[in-house]
Amino acid sequence: MEVLIAATPEEAAQFAAEAVLEGLQTRTEGHNVLGVATGSTPLGLYGELAKAVKNGEADFSNTIAFALDEYVGLESTHKQSYRQTLIQELCKVIGLPEANLNTPNGFGDSEEQIRKQAAAYDAAIVAAGVDVQILGIGTNGHIGFNEPGSSLRSRSRIKRLSNKTREDNARFFDGIDQVPTHSVTQGLGTILEARRVVLIATGSNKAEAIATALEGPLSSACPGSAVQLHPDAVIVLDEAAAAGLK
Ligand code: F6R
Repeated sequence: MEVLIAATPEEAAQFAAEAVLEGLQTRTEGHNVLGVATGSTPLGLYGELAKAVKNGEADFSNTIAFALDEYVGLESTHKQSYRQTLIQELCKVIGLPEANLNTPNGFGDSEEQIRKQAAAYDAAIVAAGVDVQILGIGTNGHIGFNEPGSSLRSRSRIKRLSNKTREDNARFFDGIDQVPTHSVTQGLGTILEARRVVLIATGSNKAEAIATALEGPLSSACPGSAVQLHPDAVIVLDEAAAAGLK
């Protein structure tokens, strides 16, 4: 694990963008495959990637992207779906064609159908091979929507959202009642197969989760601790998120 501590969230975004671009350069043939996260934290990083595109240092027009997660019960056209969020906050910002963005399908007639869609999504990720997976971390230590208690070898599947996560994400909805109760998320085992993972965390509200994930025991109680197992994990923090580290 490489832990980089930046002075500010802006500098953290720059460090993370460098780690992402470096990780993408290692592919020798075919299209780059980028694993992407939703949420507030990676927005600065996406802004830095956009700057690299503008400067001619990066080009995402042939990159294939796989999202970490999606809400169950929202159609892919729903404004709060992670697909629509990523189209606005990622595709349009870095010039990644919408057709190249893969997101889990959490919409279906039955649980069985969504389960099958999750398994097919996992298989597509395995077939593509992710070069770099971008990660955020929840205040409860989740990565993707692998909530505490997730198996460290889990695959993409339906996962119930914790009350903490639903409270944290209520800001994007008209109240907590509107926040879906379940998601489809890449599993921890799926995430760990990416050749590089770049986890970015900023702000004092992430300090406890970061300390537990990086310095606590490897445990399903803190899914973020799974990054300890990855051979090429780059963790980028600002000083506030790093405050709990020894
Ligand atoms: C989103 C995701 C989540 C977020 C986490 C932090 O696709 O996978 O694990 O990364 O909830 O969210 P923010 O960045 O909004 O604090």
